[in-house]
Amino acid sequence: MSELDDLIDFKTGRQKRVIYSDPDIYEQELEKIFARSWLFVAHECQIKEPGDFIRTFMGEDEVLVVRQKDDSVKAFLNTCTHRGNRLCKADHGNSKTFVCNYHGWGFGTDGALNGVPLEKEAYYNKLDKGKFGLIEVAQIKNYKGLIFATFDEEAPSLEEYLGEMKWYLDVWLDAMPEGTELIGTAMKVELPVNWKLPVENVSGDGYHLGWAHAGAMSVTTSMSVGGLEVGNTGTDNDGAVSVAGLNGHTVLAALDGQSGYGFYPDPKIAVDYLQANRKTVVDRLGEFRGTKMWGSQINMTVFPNLQMLPGLNWFRIYHPKGPGKFEMWTWAMVDKEMSDDLKQMILDNVSRTFGPAGLFDNDDGDNLQAITEQSHGWRTRQMDVYTNMAIGAEHSREEMPGVISDGLVCEQNQRYVYRRWLEMMKADSWDDIPQYNSLEEARATEAK
Ligand code: FES
Ligand SMILES: [Fe+2]
Repeated sequence: MSELDDLIDFKTGRQKRVIYSDPDIYEQELEKIFARSWLFVAHECQIKEPGDFIRTFMGEDEVLVVRQKDDSVKAFLNTCTHRGNRLCKADHGNSKTFVCNYHGWGFGTDGALNGVPLEKEAYYNKLDKGKFGLIEVAQIKNYKGLIFATFDEEAPSLEEYLGEMKWYLDVWLDAMPEGTELIGTAMKVELPVNWKLPVENVSGDGYHLGWAHAGAMSVTTSMSVGGLEVGNTGTDNDGAVSVAGLNGHTVLAALDGQSGYGFYPDPKIAVDYLQANRKTVVDRLGEFRGTKMWGSQINMTVFPNLQMLPGLNWFRIYHPKGPGKFEMWTWAMVDKEMSDDLKQMILDNVSRTFGPAGLFDNDDGDNLQAITEQSHGWRTRQMDVYTNMAIGAEHSREEMPGVISDGLVCEQNQRYVYRRWLEMMKADSWDDIPQYNSLEEARATEAK
């Protein structure tokens, strides 16, 4: 048993608190998780035209994602190959070339070093510019509008990495013929919180909704969400499921086909939209996803750091900034076919609930900051925390992939997130990281 095995116990749902604060563990996370995973880098709507770019992060590495002249997309480290300056300072834009502020080296949108001031006088024309192009990420791929990249040449294909999670992602990304788009700008918030805490919170923690968010829910909730409303336990076991065992990705889903809009003051315009388009979606996704899932409140987590909530319609990425800090970027994401009025209502509601001053986000930020702080002390960092609800209640369901537990109040998903975390932290290469997309496969690949 390695030291890492002592940090996580999948069978009992135990985690060591030190995972939220230890600098050495964090350094390993950058290498073993962030440098090897497929990470979301851009929505295709953000870079439509040649020269369009967005500046983002893969782990703590800053990257530029750029639409090429041939319509393909490339991503480069946003750092000058001369003396290491940040190359581009703009968050997004359109450019024919990227010129470094320090000494003026100029790079094309394809990453090639094209211009070097005083090339003849200072370098005697001997600089091999072909060796000083921008450093490109190893793989980049689009899944139905979402562009992911990885630094790892050996990583499995994006399709394989997402596995059966694609079946759930399609409930949002492929429900309507024209797909999705981000609207508004990214709302960026930095919090003194370990990056894993919001991931586990949204991936599976339905338990806190009725308590931590009781105040927020009392002023926002207009209909029941998976049996969960103010004063209720949120354990409507027929109406909602927790889904995990999807290569570390997870889903929390109500199954009523409309509760995604349950946190809107007046959901009518959204409910009308659902009604008007239900048949189209059933034709595209089938009866189960079209009637039970599309329109429901769903939390989706793509391991390690992307989360999206169709219905509440937010889309969020977490960038780690050291063991005790992360930056999260939140957008409103909508179906392109939605009316301008509905899009505006969604944008307003995302700000109201999960924006920087959002009613729900502030409840979460306070709790998660305190947990991070409670993992530092000499004594507290030796302590454990637990996600041990509903152990042994996992089962399969014919109509949906993955490992299922009933209800939203169930800590199965967090256990699987930490199982994946440990699998990646321990593995020397992708050959040692198991792939599993069902209860059977999850059991067969479980570490003994
Ligand atoms: S550091 Fe960029 S041109 Fe010198
Ligand atoms: Fe929350």
